[in-house]
Amino acid sequence: MKLDLNNWYKVLAPRPTVLVATVNENGISNAAPFSFVMPVSMKPALVAFSSAHKRHTLANIRLTKDFTINIPGKELLNQVWKCAESFPEGVSEIKKSDLTEVKMDGIKSPGIKECYAIFSCKLFKEISAGDHVLVIGEVIGAEIREDVFENEKFNSHAASPLMHIGGEEFSLPGEKLIAG
Ligand SMILES: Cc1cc2nc3c(=O)[nH]c(=O)nc-3n(C[C@H](O)[C@H](O)[C@H](O)COP(=O)(O)O)c2cc1C
Repeated sequence: MKLDLNNWYKVLAPRPTVLVATVNENGISNAAPFSFVMPVSMKPALVAFSSAHKRHTLANIRLTKDFTINIPGKELLNQVWKCAESFPEGVSEIKKSDLTEVKMDGIKSPGIKECYAIFSCKLFKEISAGDHVLVIGEVIGAEIREDVFENEKFNSHAASPLMHIGGEEFSLPGEKLIAG
């Protein structure tokens, strides 16, 4: 059957969900979930996410030129959902969701302590792309919870990343398959 072009992107799923944390001009933090996210380059370390034009996240990044990418596990499902609520500019979703801000070296944006990975990013480039803006960040520091990364390998089962299907639906990594 033909797929309606209002729906094509829903099939590129499930996608890992991250919380992008930023600060505004008064130093008040903001966090929002994003699932249009991808690694872009290894050297330099570049990561991108796609933001609708009106997001507070985007306005803050334009101001401070930095952000953090925080990867939540399944235990943070309801906090992630709370962070997607539309709070007035200047209200911290991190505080509203009972999450904990941590100071990151070299940038203004905070990390989120409860997430299993935190990437500190400096704005590398923004590219207007249709109804979204592709925000590319250079990862200048990365932290990971020890139990989810051993022998240079990521243990997705221990981490339990929230994979966004769409709307309020998420899934978790299932069976592991070894190719070749
Ligand atoms: C799981 C999930 C994934 C989302 N992914 C994106 C995304 O990739 N891009 C985007 O612009 N909005 C995305 N959103 C919507 C924003 O998180 C939401 O509009 C949020 O309130 C924006 O907050 P801000 O205005 O403080 O930046 C997503 C929401 C959820 C729940």
